[in-house]
Amino acid sequence: MVLADRIQQVAASPTMGLDAKAKALKAAGVDVISFGVGEPDFDTPAHVKEAGIKAIEGNFTRYTAVEGIPELKKAIVEKFARDNQLTYTPEQIVVNCGGKHTIYNLTQVLFQEGDEVIIPAPYWVSYPPMVILAGARPVIVSTREANGFKLTAEELKAAITPATKALILNSPSNPTGAVYTREDLQAIAGVLLENKIWVISDDIYEKIIFDGIRFFNLANLHPDLKPRTIIAHGVAKTYAMTGWRIGYMAAPKEVASAVSKLQSQSTSNPCSIAQKAAVAALNGPQDSVQAMVAAFDERRRFLVETLNRMEGVRCGTPGGAFYVFPNVSSYYGKSCQGRTIHGSSDLSDYLLEEARIAVVPGSAFGDDTCVRLSYAISLEDNRRGLERMAEALSRLK
Ligand SMILES: Cc1ncc(COP(=O)(O)O)c(C=O)c1O
Repeated sequence: MVLADRIQQVAASPTMGLDAKAKALKAAGVDVISFGVGEPDFDTPAHVKEAGIKAIEGNFTRYTAVEGIPELKKAIVEKFARDNQLTYTPEQIVVNCGGKHTIYNLTQVLFQEGDEVIIPAPYWVSYPPMVILAGARPVIVSTREANGFKLTAEELKAAITPATKALILNSPSNPTGAVYTREDLQAIAGVLLENKIWVISDDIYEKIIFDGIRFFNLANLHPDLKPRTIIAHGVAKTYAMTGWRIGYMAAPKEVASAVSKLQSQSTSNPCSIAQKAAVAALNGPQDSVQAMVAAFDERRRFLVETLNRMEGVRCGTPGGAFYVFPNVSSYYGKSCQGRTIHGSSDLSDYLLEEARIAVVPGSAFGDDTCVRLSYAISLEDNRRGLERMAEALSRLK
């Protein structure tokens, strides 16, 4: 039996894989501290859970409109108007089965063989495989640590060819936490205005942002870019709703209706109950978001400071999301008990086996010099985990 070429060209998500490995060790009684997970450790807010329960009790359990219920699309239109000063009609909104599904759908309706899609590295693990699954070619553009891992206008310009179909931009970024400022985006907009390509703006970490930094995207920055910028978003990270699987997009009408068509032949509607919960999340009180961001901020400061105190580790201060991406490459070539570390993957394995901490190798994100730590675990676990990391690193000679 032979599987399709398509699926053989991609590997399973490394972050999901690592998470499963850490969970299996935990289940076997090993005291593993996991910096691997990309999900908030907070509970879904009570009023959101209640909306879900009410939906079940009210028998809101049947198929809904493929592209999402009108009530949720209205809440999303209002969110964009309120938070981003962007005007959309409900026809431009499609609700999907998670933010990952939002981006997958977009790659399927926008890209095909012969297309190139520019992806700045470090990138979220799923962008290149999704582009490949659509038959197109990911063009990875490495950004520089010295520039806060942000794509510059010059780097973008140099990567554009006649085959370029789109740029995928993610701010705040997973894995680096980098946030593009208005000035950063203005420079990029200058290049995009001269080159007619699509932009997928993955704004899923919009609300997890620190130090009073203001969030911008290319659509709200430049009116001329709005007709070819698609915003991919979701409720997972902002409202601690990773398991509910609701993502959404704001797109030009023809893209939105193409995505609805694809969805009508693949998943049908996103979960009816989760849609009702998402309405409550978007329309309800936002104080849980503020509390979560304040907790993340405390951990972020602790991690950055502690990592930078470790010999041979260099860690920039991320402006958003809940990850740090320290450079650990000074340990490459070093050994402990006959085991030599050749790169981020070896180091992650070493830390899991020797220090019982799970970190994600930077190679999974297209940058082998670093590892990613998610601080969506308690401050106490962050502290214990970093102590173990420092001890294990000090044994590498
Ligand atoms: C950058 C980025 N985009 C999109 C997603 C998708 O999130 P979800 O499918 O949980 O809504 C994630 C999740 O890790 C992410 O990190």
